[in-house]
Amino acid sequence: MIDDALESAWRAVQDGATLSEACVAAGVEGSGRERLIGELRRLLAGEARLERVQPGLASASARLAALDALDERAPQSGGGRRLPFDAAALRAREAELLSRADPVLRLAQRGSVSDAVAAALHRTLGDEAQAFLDASWRRAGLCLRVNVARTTREELAERLKSEGVATRPGTMSPWALHVVGDGPLPRTRAQEEGLFEVQDEASQLVAFVVDPLAKAPTVDVCAGAGGKTLALCARLGKKGRVVALDVNRPRLRELRARAARAQAFNLLVHETPRAGSELPAPLRPLAGHAARVLVDAPCSGLGVLGRKPDLARRVDLGVLRRLPEQQLEIARGALAWLRPDGRLIYATCTPLREENEAVVERLCAEEGLEALPMSAWLPAELFALAPDRSSTVLRLLPHVHGTDAFTIHVLRRRSDGTETRRG
Ligand SMILES: C[S@@+](CC[C@H](N)C(=O)[O-])C[C@H]1O[C@@H](n2cnc3c(N)ncnc32)[C@H](O)[C@@H]1O
Repeated sequence: MIDDALESAWRAVQDGATLSEACVAAGVEGSGRERLIGELRRLLAGEARLERVQPGLASASARLAALDALDERAPQSGGGRRLPFDAAALRAREAELLSRADPVLRLAQRGSVSDAVAAALHRTLGDEAQAFLDASWRRAGLCLRVNVARTTREELAERLKSEGVATRPGTMSPWALHVVGDGPLPRTRAQEEGLFEVQDEASQLVAFVVDPLAKAPTVDVCAGAGGKTLALCARLGKKGRVVALDVNRPRLRELRARAARAQAFNLLVHETPRAGSELPAPLRPLAGHAARVLVDAPCSGLGVLGRKPDLARRVDLGVLRRLPEQQLEIARGALAWLRPDGRLIYATCTPLREENEAVVERLCAEEGLEALPMSAWLPAELFALAPDRSSTVLRLLPHVHGTDAFTIHVLRRRSDGTETRRG
């Protein structure tokens, strides 16, 4: 049981054990070990930060956090459970000390993130940042993307039911099925046959927003292991052509394997060509001819904190300063694939303005582009998501939409006089 394990491991850490030793002490191995280490790190982060502000707050808060973690997992009927700390006293003490702290520190502490992350989230989301973090940490469960090139959502739901997996339809993406219940996804024939992929609804919607065309290629310049690439292929059915590029060879290998399983034959996978070198033959006809270019840029990943808790500590000021330059450079390079009336879709799994609006504003100013109002671009199925008539950003947020956080812009060249939606 993770709650008992956490209690033992936390005690071991308090007695000076390393995180690995604490896992051994708690008898936790395998996938549970990673989760336990993540939990311990969150507790330690709280302790280290608070000690600087107010001696005593650190241990009060860290113990309280341990208590919360135990509480979350305790059965509802678990009255009489032996808990390691005095909850009421600790809560009162922490509340009193935190009420004197500034909003960013409060956010960092209550949201279990580093000061740098708290400050960045506060700059973008203001008072909503706490709700964002609460919802991020609560996010759980598995979402599947139906491979609509091969089956329908209803058919897959039936098929999975027959294989012992209960699902319910998603509310945002027409391709989404949520697995009912906790725990890992059992092995199913349906997955081996490529009838679905595990993918959050927000990530599915990115591919939907790209709206690839059957008659002109789509280039995915940061394809990685292909989550969005495969969604784009499925969206096109057996038509069109998607070109997946990335600098990371192992990820491209994984993408190829997934594509074979999904039977995505309208796909070309290639390593990102080196800047300044001659294009390899398969990519040559594509330069300046893609109707859609997707830049799913490397980012701080703060939109997927619930699934990657270590980001809360790993993302620091250096990372946050470096990313926008890298993002701008990748997006600038991506323009080489775009035909004159094409659309560049810039997406990140982070809500931060620095990694989204700020990058897009610079790109538009320096490269003669403009961002389209979302209300004029989104397909009918997604109209409800358009924030208002003039807003050029689509920001999906866990506390608003119940998804991972994703931020999406759609750009076109200013010289392009075509209608907004179809190039
Ligand atoms: C957010 S991930 C992409 C996730 C992927 N699109 C998906 O849906 O699963 C960003 C990707 O950008 C890649 N990347 C980093 N620097 C790059 C560059 N200069 N050019 C192209 N890809 C780059 C990384 O290898 C990583 O796979």
